[in-house]
Amino acid sequence: MSDIAEQLEQIRDRGLYRRLRLISGPQGPRVLLDGDPVLLLCSNNYLGLADHPRVREAAAEAAMRWGVGAGASRLVSGNMTVHRRLEEQIAEFKGSAACVLFGSGYLANTGVISSLARAGDVVFSDELNHASIVDGCRMARAETFVYDHCDPDHLEWGLREAEGRGALIVTDGVFSMDGDVAPLEEIVELAQRYDARVMVDEAHSTGTMGPGGRGAVADAGLDGEIDVVVGTLGKALGSYGAYVCCEKPMAKYLVNTARSLIFSTALPPPAVAGAMAALELLIEQPGRVDKLARNAEAMRDALSAEGLDTGISETQILPVVVGDPRAAMDACEGALAQGVFCQAIRPPTVPDGSSRLRIAVMASHTRSELRWAAGVLARAVREAEPARRAPAKDKVFDGYAEAA
Ligand SMILES: Cc1ncc(COP(=O)(O)O)c(C=O)c1O
Repeated sequence: MSDIAEQLEQIRDRGLYRRLRLISGPQGPRVLLDGDPVLLLCSNNYLGLADHPRVREAAAEAAMRWGVGAGASRLVSGNMTVHRRLEEQIAEFKGSAACVLFGSGYLANTGVISSLARAGDVVFSDELNHASIVDGCRMARAETFVYDHCDPDHLEWGLREAEGRGALIVTDGVFSMDGDVAPLEEIVELAQRYDARVMVDEAHSTGTMGPGGRGAVADAGLDGEIDVVVGTLGKALGSYGAYVCCEKPMAKYLVNTARSLIFSTALPPPAVAGAMAALELLIEQPGRVDKLARNAEAMRDALSAEGLDTGISETQILPVVVGDPRAAMDACEGALAQGVFCQAIRPPTVPDGSSRLRIAVMASHTRSELRWAAGVLARAVREAEPARRAPAKDKVFDGYAEAA
């Protein structure tokens, strides 16, 4: 057997085999999945803007006006007026001195962390941070200290141990697989005490929380206190790409040093214009953020009434931990057979033994859809339980990165 076939076999043995499913049509609350109609409960199109007519029109017009591709890196000839305009609008929305667009959240996180954390420095990273942060830490020449999830005491212990060295604390604002919110106030307090920089990833909090959807940092009243705020355009803002909000010297530093910005083609104009239209809609219609929060509450209550525990989630991301990866897949398939699509999330996306259904609520869901889906999911999880097998043998599948 070839090495690749062997590796695939191992992935299957561990219940971690992945395949691409196919959606026809836009990312609405109901989609055709591999040809069948289903309720979509695992998309990050939280505000329903990816398929909003104004967002689509803005992207289509941008394609006619500026073309489809940017043609080069922003530092060569790819930096266009449309990029500059969105940067100005995001900076104003976030109350930030400067904003720099990146190709994606993955590129922003890897680029910023590897630029800011140099040899001899230490990056302090929450153990449940997104993989793009983990990879940024790996790419940096600095050492990484992984602190226990949302544990300021453990973080402080690490900061004390590393006193005198350059320090960067990095955290998700809302954790992507658990839906809980980072203790930002305590983190900022520690950063000030130990002279560390702070970077917050608002991928799942931009457009979903805080005043007018301005995010977790604004929600905590910490505007202006965080060195680097990263956010994505591909989730609540319905498009693709990412931004970094910071002070002007930091923006200039990133433009000069972030390899993922320097060595990658600029965002396509239609994606930029689509995000701009989505941002305008968010500002005009803040009620969408409230609707999302109400839907998340309704779903949390409906799941709880069905006997499902959604852990420490406080947001639109609602995890139902099943444990074993194959049981999680069985639950996913069971729900799918009843018309509810909620992808099972398994290692290395989440730690071993915590495979789950990650429910993502959208503002465009109706209450009755959510109530019905909660019942379907509860039945599917219950039916998957007897099939739950012993946890996977090896802690980490060889060939994937470990979680942190
Ligand atoms: C917390 C977090 N940061 C960054 C990313 C990466 O963003 P993008 O999809 O734009 O690469 C994601 C998800 O994909 C995420 O969940």
